[in-house]
Amino acid sequence: SDLYAVIGNPIGFSKSPFIHGRFAEMTGQDIVYQAIEGEIGRFARRIDEFRAAGAKGLNITAPFKLDAFAYATEHSESAKLAGAANCLKFDGDTVSAQNFDGVGLVRDITVNLGVEMKGRRVLLLGAGGAARGAFLPFLRERPAELTLVNRTVAKAVALAEQATDGEPVTVCSYEELADRGGFDLVVNATSASLRAEMPPIPGAAFRGARLAYELAYGKGLTPFLRAAKQEAVPGLADGVGMLVEQAAEAFAWWRGVRPPTSGVIGELTIPLV
Ligand code: ATR
Repeated sequence: SDLYAVIGNPIGFSKSPFIHGRFAEMTGQDIVYQAIEGEIGRFARRIDEFRAAGAKGLNITAPFKLDAFAYATEHSESAKLAGAANCLKFDGDTVSAQNFDGVGLVRDITVNLGVEMKGRRVLLLGAGGAARGAFLPFLRERPAELTLVNRTVAKAVALAEQATDGEPVTVCSYEELADRGGFDLVVNATSASLRAEMPPIPGAAFRGARLAYELAYGKGLTPFLRAAKQEAVPGLADGVGMLVEQAAEAFAWWRGVRPPTSGVIGELTIPLV
C-alpha cells in the first residue's frame, strides 16, 4: 500500500486521517495515511525522512504551508498565488505543490450548498493565507463584484493587485463597508473566529445575503455566524465541507479517482447552534 500523511502542529485534532481513510474505503484504494506532528524549523528534514520511507504524498496544515511551498520543486498556479501549499506529491526527485483550499471552498459553496457565485456580489473578509487561497478561485466563478475587506487595508490592496484589468475587484475598510449595501455571499476568511472574535462588519453587509460562510470548522456558531443569523441570513455554513472537498481534490490528484464527499461531510458535520 502507498504511504501518505498530514503534517501540522498541533496535529491531534486533524480530521484528515479519518477523511482519507473513508475515501480509501469507498474507492477501494490501498493506502496508509498517517498524522505527523511536525517540529517548527525542521519541516524539510522531516519530509526528507518521510520520502525516504517511500511516501507518495502529503497534506499540510498550519503552520507548515509556507515551508511546504518552499520545499516543492514545482508549483501550481493556485499554490503560487497563495504562496502556500496544502498538498504535495512526490515522484522521484520531483515534489509538486498544490493548494486545494480555494477550489474546495468554491466547490462546497456552489455544488454542496447550491449557491452560485456567478453574477453575484461577493464579500471576502481577510487577506491572510486563507483569503489569498480563495481569491482566484472566486474570480473564476465570475462574480458581478468581489469586495475585499481587511483590518490592514494594505494587505487587501496587495491581494487585489493579483486580479487582471477589468475584473470586478474592489477593496475597502471595515468602516467603509457600511456604505456598500448588502452582499449575496459573505465569506469569513479571517482568523478572528479562532479567538471567538468578530471581524467588525456592519449588519447591513448581510442584507439580502443567501449565505454566510465561515472558513473555521468545528467552532459552532461563531460571532460571525451569529451576526449573520441575527440578520436573518437563510444559509449559514462552516468550513467542514471545504475541508472534505480539498481532501477530495488531493485524493483525486494522488490516486486518479474522485471520492464521493457528501457522506463524509455528513459524518463530520456538527450542528451550528
Ligand atoms: P490565515 O492563514 O488563517 O488567513 P493569517 O495569514 O494570519 O491567517 O491571516 C489572518 C487574517 O485574519 C488577516 O486578514 C487578519 O487581518 P490583518 O491582516 O489586518 O491582521 C484577520 N484577522 C485576525 N483577527 C481579526 C479580527 N479580530 N478582526 C478582523 N480581522 C482579523
